[in-house]
Amino acid sequence: MQDHPLLAAARQVLEQNWNGRFTKPAPSLYPHQWNWDAGFIALGNAHHNMDRAMAELRHLFRGQWSNGMLPQIVFGDDPQARYFPGPDFWQTEKAEHAPQGIQTSGISMPPVHGFVLWELYEIAEDKEAARAFLQEMYPKVIALHRYFYDYRDPEEEGLAYIRHPWEGGTDNSPIWDAALARMDTSQLDIPPYERKDLQNPKAAAHRPTQADYDRYVYLVDLFRKNAYDDARIYEQCPFLIQDPLFNGILCWSNEALIKIGDLLGEDISEPMQWHELTIWSMNDKLWDEERGLYNAYDLRQQELIPVYTSSGLMPLCGEVPTQEQAEAMLLTLESGHFGGKRKDIRLCPTYSLQAEDVDFKKYWRGPVWINLNWLLYRGLLRYDMDKVAERVKQDSLALLSEQGFYEYFDPRKEAEGEIGCGTDSFSWSAALCVEWLMR
Ligand code: GLC
Repeated sequence: MQDHPLLAAARQVLEQNWNGRFTKPAPSLYPHQWNWDAGFIALGNAHHNMDRAMAELRHLFRGQWSNGMLPQIVFGDDPQARYFPGPDFWQTEKAEHAPQGIQTSGISMPPVHGFVLWELYEIAEDKEAARAFLQEMYPKVIALHRYFYDYRDPEEEGLAYIRHPWEGGTDNSPIWDAALARMDTSQLDIPPYERKDLQNPKAAAHRPTQADYDRYVYLVDLFRKNAYDDARIYEQCPFLIQDPLFNGILCWSNEALIKIGDLLGEDISEPMQWHELTIWSMNDKLWDEERGLYNAYDLRQQELIPVYTSSGLMPLCGEVPTQEQAEAMLLTLESGHFGGKRKDIRLCPTYSLQAEDVDFKKYWRGPVWINLNWLLYRGLLRYDMDKVAERVKQDSLALLSEQGFYEYFDPRKEAEGEIGCGTDSFSWSAALCVEWLMR
């Protein structure tokens, strides 16, 4: 695979988006550093430039708050970078725990960093340097997980909640629809704002709607009014969701922290407790036996959110299900919902192909995303489902080589219009392509 024609092109995207301090997710649409993007990007770079992979993570963790929270965005200082919401809107200087001298947003993202660190160590040729890096980063990632268990798990179930769709990483996923719809915008006080994400003409049509943005902005306003105090926000926030993608990733990273801690000779009892509890609760509370996947849970409404999204399959990556549950998940993947047996569909659509409101070009409401495909691939391998894992990989590589390093893709082979959607030169699409080709 190392002389695969895609490899040089993928590396070029990563090179072009590197600004000397961090890698932008995309040249114009996303001009700052994003949390889980940085993890995937580091993984891609690790295969040919370990120093850069480490620099990427170091830069991200410079933005870590003193309570452990790792922000969704660490802002760069390029005055040309036009992005909404920027630091002036987040106003995180109001937060007791925000770092001095570095601007960040005030929410977090799925904690990929634990497993990324372990993967970096495995890829590294110079194990001594890699071990020193683990030593440096381990306490920071522990602090991040501790933040989720201390501040985002009020019932002490081992399930972290997210309080904004952007924290989930799947901005306009149908999972959030009901909770957002309950926020009646005609009754809410929404501060004035101007979007900047509609300036990319190709991406504009598929971006979240104005009604979505009003609610996103309302939530940010609520957080800043409460000076980012977790306890107060928990009391007031209309959006509190336990997401299977987020918690599945948390499990994988807990597992990695146990391995790293063990290697470094640390006391690993804390990550071991986290790991056990989160797996137990995911199976107890979020597992849906009938539908063969994991649900999200709305903590405000105290109810499950039974929609068919691929997020419900992602706990495979953290080895959350038993082999038997995983077999049921495979059937779900191969069912009409996700098209795993169809030749005209490329895996894996983010939303059921049978949902009335599936939209194959709209962001997280149907399209294929490379990061979720990569997580699914790794998850399937854990259960010896090599054949379907290989299909996920080959479908991804086919999309990337035919279409380019787009942000997301229409899963239908014979789709009308563009198949590669959103921004091009998207960093994690390139990074995970490198990771697939170099393994
Ligand atoms: C979008 C995606 C999110 C990603 C960010 C930067 O907001 O939904 O997952 O991290 O862009 O690429």
